[in-house]
Amino acid sequence: MLGNFTYHNPTRLHFGKDAMQQLPQELARYGKNVLLVYGGGSIKKSGLYEQVRAMLDAAGKTVAEDAGVMPNPTLDKLREGAQRARDCNADLILSVGGGSCCDYSKAVSAAAWCEGEPWERFFLRHEEPTEKTIPVGCVLTMVGTGSEMNGGSVITNTATKQKIGKVFGPAMFSHFSILNPEFTYTLPKNQMVAGFFDIMSHILEQYFSGTDDNTSDYLMEGLLRSLIHSGRIAVKNPQDYEARSNIMWTATWALNTLVAKGKTTDWMVHMIGQAIGGTTDATHGMTLAAVSIPYYRHVMPHGLAKFRRYAVNVWDVNPDGKTDEQIANEGLERMAAWMREIGLVMDSRELGVTEENLPGIVKNTIMLPGGYKQLTAADVEAVIRASMA
Ligand code: NZQ
Ligand code: ZN
Repeated sequence: MLGNFTYHNPTRLHFGKDAMQQLPQELARYGKNVLLVYGGGSIKKSGLYEQVRAMLDAAGKTVAEDAGVMPNPTLDKLREGAQRARDCNADLILSVGGGSCCDYSKAVSAAAWCEGEPWERFFLRHEEPTEKTIPVGCVLTMVGTGSEMNGGSVITNTATKQKIGKVFGPAMFSHFSILNPEFTYTLPKNQMVAGFFDIMSHILEQYFSGTDDNTSDYLMEGLLRSLIHSGRIAVKNPQDYEARSNIMWTATWALNTLVAKGKTTDWMVHMIGQAIGGTTDATHGMTLAAVSIPYYRHVMPHGLAKFRRYAVNVWDVNPDGKTDEQIANEGLERMAAWMREIGLVMDSRELGVTEENLPGIVKNTIMLPGGYKQLTAADVEAVIRASMA
């Protein structure tokens, strides 16, 4: 049965090859001072930086830059960005990059004028900002996180090795996001497929929870089928516009809050993946890929009916003459085969997990109650060990 909810997503999305033509109109909505946030230089190589700077100049903006946002943005970098946003009295934070830049921009928005320690307030205590915040806009270059249309902001505290996501309310969502699938063509293959798996994982985290008959589950099965199909095409031909645009749109819907409405959700793959990332700094989507199959095998007996449904409706497993367990297992085998086919990392040792750092990773895994089994530390350890196969 659908629970109670309020659905409100305030982000204006501009999608397609001509989406950048909407940027001048968007810039006109905000004041003169813009903090331009970007990563390690991919936008300079692709020429997007020049294009954005020219549009900012034409709009008469005074621009300060905050470059060098790293994948898995750190708390130290956040402090630096907050200072920079205050120094330039930013009226708009314009993020040009992947999910890391967009996540970071939301965190800078909240931290710039906040009283007290942002890590404590937003990431440990999950408070909403009460002081002035700065509007964020996003030009997306990497597909996966859904950060372009949600309140997520994941920051890594390198001192404590904690990687924690704060999910801000709609007031902190990007005000606008520009999604041109062609901007993602320059992604290296490993980042491209890591993004594909991030999308798959976001959907599965929301799918594998609850036993009721929920419209969201049907929506998610459709999103998954589109992703599996387009992912295969994109791996063979990364410049297939139809496939890349379908995937970009799927990523947004996978985590723009819609499919979670009225149902419970799991998120333990992300909790384990983030704990691995906090220790190893590995690519987010790859941390999820490495632990997913071991995790789902571990919890499958506790949610067998849903795993059976997943196998039949998403992976086209023929159920005739098979037990529910056989059907469910065949679904996971097909999922694993697709993961290998597109080139994901499925052994967490390749990401830097070792016998020595395993206890710390287990300790830093946040336990959430929404999955088919409430995990203990021993369960988490067993799942990670199975991913070191
Ligand atoms: O820094 P640059 O030089 O731009 O290079 C980036 C980076 O090295 C590169 N890249 C991005 N677009 C490119 C490109 N290279 C060539 N051409 C392009 N068009 O790709 C690398 C990865 O970028 P990043 O932004 O780190 O990737 P992603 O979008 O996967 O973001 C990962 C972060 O998002 C968090 C993750 O934990 C991680 O910190 N997440 C955010 C979520 C949210 N907001 O809801 C949910 C997710 O589950 C996730 O946790
Ligand atoms: Zn994710």
